[in-house]
Amino acid sequence: TYIVTDNCIKCKYTDCVEVCPVDCFYEGENMLVIHPDECIDCGVCEPECPADAIKPDTERNLDDWLALNTEYAAKWPNITQKKPELPEAKEFDGVPDKLKYFSP
Ligand code: SF4
Ligand code: F3S
Repeated sequence: TYIVTDNCIKCKYTDCVEVCPVDCFYEGENMLVIHPDECIDCGVCEPECPADAIKPDTERNLDDWLALNTEYAAKWPNITQKKPELPEAKEFDGVPDKLKYFSP
């Protein structure tokens, strides 16, 4: 599966949702997640993210992010249409360790 990782937080560009063939993105206040059981591993969303936040879960040690995607995909509403990025997106793109800014 693919998952959304830390650099989405406080950016939330939402380009990713436009290309997903199975509409498996879910929206929180300042981040999106992918539902790992719904993702068909097509990979088309990965290059669409301007923040480079989407990764295959096989890359580096992403277990914590997989758990976060799994938990919040079950709680948050589905999103299928692009909307404007967050106002602070540019400022926060690339800031390290953004988990502390995560809004559940
Ligand atoms: Fe959707 Fe494909 Fe991305 Fe999975 S890899 S979230 S199915 S676009
Ligand atoms: Fe987040 Fe990138 Fe999508 S910043 S909302 S994963 S386009």
